[in-house]
Amino acid sequence: MKNAGYITTNVEEAARILNGGGVIGMPTETVYGLAARADLEESVGRIFDIKGRPRNHPLIAHLSPDADASHWGEFNESAERLAELFWPGPLTLLVPRTQHIGVWVTGGRDSVALRVPAHTVTQQLLREVDDAVVAPSANRFGKVSPTTAEHVAHDLGNTVDCILDGGQCSIGVESTIVECVGESISILRPGGISAQQISQATGLTVSLVNGESRAPGMLLSHYAPNAELIIVSSSDEAQSLAMSRGLTNQQWHLMSFYDSEEYAMNMYHVLRQCDLRGETVVFAIKPREDALGVAVLDRLLKASAPRI
Ligand code: TXA
Ligand code: MG
Repeated sequence: MKNAGYITTNVEEAARILNGGGVIGMPTETVYGLAARADLEESVGRIFDIKGRPRNHPLIAHLSPDADASHWGEFNESAERLAELFWPGPLTLLVPRTQHIGVWVTGGRDSVALRVPAHTVTQQLLREVDDAVVAPSANRFGKVSPTTAEHVAHDLGNTVDCILDGGQCSIGVESTIVECVGESISILRPGGISAQQISQATGLTVSLVNGESRAPGMLLSHYAPNAELIIVSSSDEAQSLAMSRGLTNQQWHLMSFYDSEEYAMNMYHVLRQCDLRGETVVFAIKPREDALGVAVLDRLLKASAPRI
C-alpha cells in the first residue's frame, strides 16, 4: 500500500483509484483538478471537505472526447456549435442538466458545467473511468490554482489518494465558462477561448457577466497569494510604489512576461514562489487585452481584491 498523496504517472492506477471511490489530483491543460467520479456522492463530498469549499458551489464535470455529452446536459444550438468547435479544449459549457448528474455535483442547481479537456493524459484517464469526473481546481478555497503536480502536493498533500502527474499545464489559467441556457449566451469566467471566438462561432452577442449570483464560487477575492498583489502599468510605477512604501528589494517582486501566453502559463507558479520566499508585495504588470490577457487580468483583479 502506497502512502496517500504520492505522485504517479500511471494512468491505469489513477483510473482504478477513481473507480474505487478515491479522490486524486488530475492534470488538465488549464490547471490541475481535484477529481472524483461524478456518480459517487461520498467521493464528491470529500472534494468539498478537502478544499474547504461550500457544498453549494457546483463542480465542473469532465468528459472523455468519446463520451456523449448529451447524457449529462441538454445542448441547444449554440451549445452544440461551441462544443463542436472548441472541444476538446479550455471551454466549459453551462447547460440544463439531465437526471444523470447528481445534485451533489450541481449544488442543487438545474444546470451542469461540462468540459472535455485537451490534455492527452487526462483523456486517457477519462476513457478509463466509468462516469464523468468532477474536478474543481486542486487548491484550497480562495487560493492560487495549481499548474504542476508539485503544487498540488504542496497544497493538498496526503488528503488526496494520489496525484497523476501530467507535467506543467500548457495554458495555466482556468477554462472559459459559457452559459448556454435559453436564447442568449454569457461568459461567466474568461479563459483560453475568447469572447470574440464565441460570438463568431454562434453569431450571437456575448455578454461578460461577473458576480457571485451567476456562478457561485466566483467571489471577488479569489486566486489570492499570501502577498498583497498590486496591478501596475510599468516597472517604473512598481519601483516608485515600492519606494514610497519603504519596501526593501527582498520584500517585493515584479511580475512581468513577454506575452499573454507566457503570463497565463507562469503567473500562478510565480505567485506561489513569492509566497515561499515570503515577499510581502507582488506588483503585476497589466497584461495586454488579447484573449488570454483578459483571462489573466480577471485573475489578477480577483487576487488583488480586498481579502474576505
Ligand atoms: O479549467 C478549469 O475549469 C478547471 C479545470 C480543473 O477543469 N476547473 C475549475 O473549477 O476551475 P472550479 O471549480 O475552480 O471553477 C468552476 C466554476 C465555479 O466558480 C463554479 O461556481 C462554476 O464553475 N460552476 C460550475 N457549475 C456551475 C453551475 N451549474 N452553475 C453556475 N456555475 C457553475
Ligand atoms: Mg478554482
